[in-house]
Amino acid sequence: MAVITFANTKGGAGKTTAVLLLATELARKGYRITILDADPQHWISRWHEVSGQVANISVIDFVTSASLPHHISDNKHNTDYFIIDLPGARNPMLATAIGLSDHVLIPIQGCAMDARGGAQVLELLQYLDEKAGIKIGHSVVLTRVNSMVTTRALSLVKSLLSERQVPVLDTAIIERSAFRDIFDCGGTLHTLDPARASNLEKARENALCFAEEIMRKLPVRLTAAARMTGPLIRSAA
Ligand SMILES: Nc1ncnc2c1ncn2[C@@H]1O[C@H](COP(=O)(O)OP(=O)(O)O)[C@@H](O)[C@H]1O
Ligand SMILES: [Mg+2]
Repeated sequence: MAVITFANTKGGAGKTTAVLLLATELARKGYRITILDADPQHWISRWHEVSGQVANISVIDFVTSASLPHHISDNKHNTDYFIIDLPGARNPMLATAIGLSDHVLIPIQGCAMDARGGAQVLELLQYLDEKAGIKIGHSVVLTRVNSMVTTRALSLVKSLLSERQVPVLDTAIIERSAFRDIFDCGGTLHTLDPARASNLEKARENALCFAEEIMRKLPVRLTAAARMTGPLIRSAA
């Protein structure tokens, strides 16, 4: 079981979108996912309402600092990955969620490079390490990257961050309309109508690459039950 928090104290960084992409891709691989929705905008819970049942995904709404540890202990036997979606603004939830996490993902808008909200999260992680000896794995994930940005330009941004000892995921999340469409239509990238969503194949490829990088970073063994349902989900999708 692993707990992953998406954190950036700035709204609009792409946290909720990345949460949904990761959750739906991991669920498709057969992992049991519990999303803990602490975002006051409740986008994930609304998505879940629109979608109806989605195989391997449970969503818990109205998560607070006080309830978060209980949700994790109550559901750890039926969950492979917990994914926490935090509010945009700086909030007491941030420290609680980070403290319970195996890995913190910090989405930063790749092109805008408006990294202030991400820097606040990195400062908190550094503070925990230096003052309390608590080391929590973390990585920046560049999000909403324009598809026209060249690989070279992107590598430059990544190496600038790495030089400052900030770990950065290899996979950047590209700005794709399909990533917005799943919130409107419900379901996943694999239930969207290819005739209506542009560049759907590229969006699917990007989301899969992102999820596979996280799986390598935070491997969780698939249970026998999940291995049995996994192929069924894939063929049904
Ligand atoms: N990769 C992406 N491609 C297209 N639109 C995106 C992407 N990431 C985020 N957005 C859009 O940007 C806005 C803010 O994203 P969101 O994921 O809600 O950020 P946060 O949770 O950090 O506030 C939303 O309208 C969302 O649809
Ligand atoms: Mg959000």
